[in-house]
Amino acid sequence: MLQRARRLRVNKDIRDMARETRVSKNTLILPMFLKEGKNIKDEISSLDHHYHYSPDRIFEGIEEGLKAGVNKFLLFGLPNHKDEVGCEAYSDSGIVQQGLRAIKDRYKDEVYLITDICMCEYTSHGHCGILQDEYVNNDKTLEYLAEIAVSHANAGADMVAPSDMMDGRILSMRNALDQNGYTETPIMSYAVKYASSFYGPFRAAADSAPSFGDRKSYQMDYHNIKEGLKEAKTDEQEGADIIMVKPAMSYLDVIKKVSENTNLPVAAYSVSGEYAMIKAAAKMGLINEYGVMCESAISIYRAGADILITYFAKELAEAMRKGDIG
Ligand code: PBG
Repeated sequence: MLQRARRLRVNKDIRDMARETRVSKNTLILPMFLKEGKNIKDEISSLDHHYHYSPDRIFEGIEEGLKAGVNKFLLFGLPNHKDEVGCEAYSDSGIVQQGLRAIKDRYKDEVYLITDICMCEYTSHGHCGILQDEYVNNDKTLEYLAEIAVSHANAGADMVAPSDMMDGRILSMRNALDQNGYTETPIMSYAVKYASSFYGPFRAAADSAPSFGDRKSYQMDYHNIKEGLKEAKTDEQEGADIIMVKPAMSYLDVIKKVSENTNLPVAAYSVSGEYAMIKAAAKMGLINEYGVMCESAISIYRAGADILITYFAKELAEAMRKGDIG
């Protein structure tokens, strides 16, 4: 037989050498949740081993990340006070701003801090923008988003990541950041973000479910892929530095197409529902958690993702260190 595929599978050495997908812990981002208050470290019931931290205890989570080899964090905030226009999102003393200052004070450039920019955790109605007659007003929301971006940059964010899905938000944030001297602060755009049921555990964790209706008038319809390419292109033209696809696992075709059509780095967000499903199935003894975690992460990179945002970031960094993947 001239071709025997098994020759390249004989032992670990040759398998490692012939591997087609190479990954690095430098590409992992760990989401974290800040909560207003003091001395809080509460496990999030919908996300095993993830916690709500008050700014005075967020270091515990950061420390664990650093120990595992992860130094990039995506910060979300749970404010005490919510209102119609999400004041706490752009307040200088908002929860994310407090967290940013606390972490940067202590860790300086040892950590890379990315902030999620959205209004749903801060508005009383739970929608991602400013409402007008129960409909999210796109252009009005843009001013608020730009203000949040600048306020995060003021507090020390290394990068901002808008997840609201308003049209024109990248341009409006880029202009605002530039005008305030943050010309070097990159924008990672949640460009190709679907209206997905996979966000369920996150909304419980972030207390951000809409109080009426759904997000289908701003997030994408999951039947569509060309629309995703259009979103990616528009955001690139508006000044995005990184294009994100979200969710990841059920959208590998989208990750592939987007990565083939952009010259920007592509990030994939393996969302809360993906994490929770693996955790739940493992708890029931149905699957091997470690194996499924590794396999699904690699499938996302194989599809074309350069960067992976995942609740398994620490465990994946460990798997890479051991050489099980990588
Ligand atoms: C905010 C936001 C959401 C997620 C990230 N940013 C929820 C949503 O759009 O409803 C989901 C993340 C996850 O499920 O892990 N808009």
